[in-house]
Amino acid sequence: MDALTAENISSGYGKSLIVHDVSISVAAGLITAIVGPNGAGKSTFAKTLAGLIRPVGGRIVVNGADVTRVPGHLYARHGLGYVPQNDNVFRTMTVKENLEVGGFATKGDSRSRMQEVLEIFPDLKKAETKKAGNLSGGQQNLLAMARALMAEPTVLILDEPTAGLSPAYTSVVWQQIERIAGSGTGVLVIEQNVERALSHAHVVHVLVAGANHVHGPVDEIATLDLAGIFLGHDRSANHPEKRGQQ
Ligand SMILES: Nc1ncnc2c1ncn2[C@@H]1O[C@H](COP(=O)(O)OP(=O)(O)O)[C@@H](O)[C@H]1O
Ligand SMILES: [Mg+2]
Repeated sequence: MDALTAENISSGYGKSLIVHDVSISVAAGLITAIVGPNGAGKSTFAKTLAGLIRPVGGRIVVNGADVTRVPGHLYARHGLGYVPQNDNVFRTMTVKENLEVGGFATKGDSRSRMQEVLEIFPDLKKAETKKAGNLSGGQQNLLAMARALMAEPTVLILDEPTAGLSPAYTSVVWQQIERIAGSGTGVLVIEQNVERALSHAHVVHVLVAGANHVHGPVDEIATLDLAGIFLGHDRSANHPEKRGQQ
């Protein structure tokens, strides 16, 4: 069973439809990446999967439970964790307090869970009593991931967890993503850096203009001209109807 399945999702803001008929499956223990140009609708899709935007069409299933009509704040109880692209920590709260907030949805003992999570993120352990707003951008992104892990999600959605980070810190974040997937969690990562997505993900979806352009195992996607696809160029002769629009 997939940790997360979304079928034929269409969504947007008010009357403006951004995401058109996109489907995705996130398998337990694997990393699924979504890449695509700026403004393609990746964050809108992620927010929809996380229950923050109600889709106008389609179905969202988390660990076998259809949550399409469930209020978004209850998705965590079904095992879904979500880290937004921006504003993903409480800046005036300490690292520990941020983790406590993340632990509200935990079934088990949140104090022992916090110790486990801090062991995984040595940088955060050293900064336990610091205000989140005083951490570096990379540390803030790790804190946002750590906070989501407090609830022991079985599927975790990360929206551009490495945006704006140094290459060194980007590697640290990706190591954590691989570790999280290695523990059996299904991870869906939106990554603006195509090379990173191709070197770490198992399955890659390419979202262009709010639609799923192509998806498949990473080996297949790596052979495509992604730069051309991002620019809206034809990817092959399989789409004669698109020719002449370049
Ligand atoms: N809160 C919002 N209200 C209205 N339109 C929005 C909102 N957020 C994003 N959009 C629009 O949705 C489109 C897709 O944005 P987004 O999902 O953020 O793309 P991506 O994450 O791929 O860069 C853009 O045209 C953007 O202007
Ligand atoms: Mg985005």
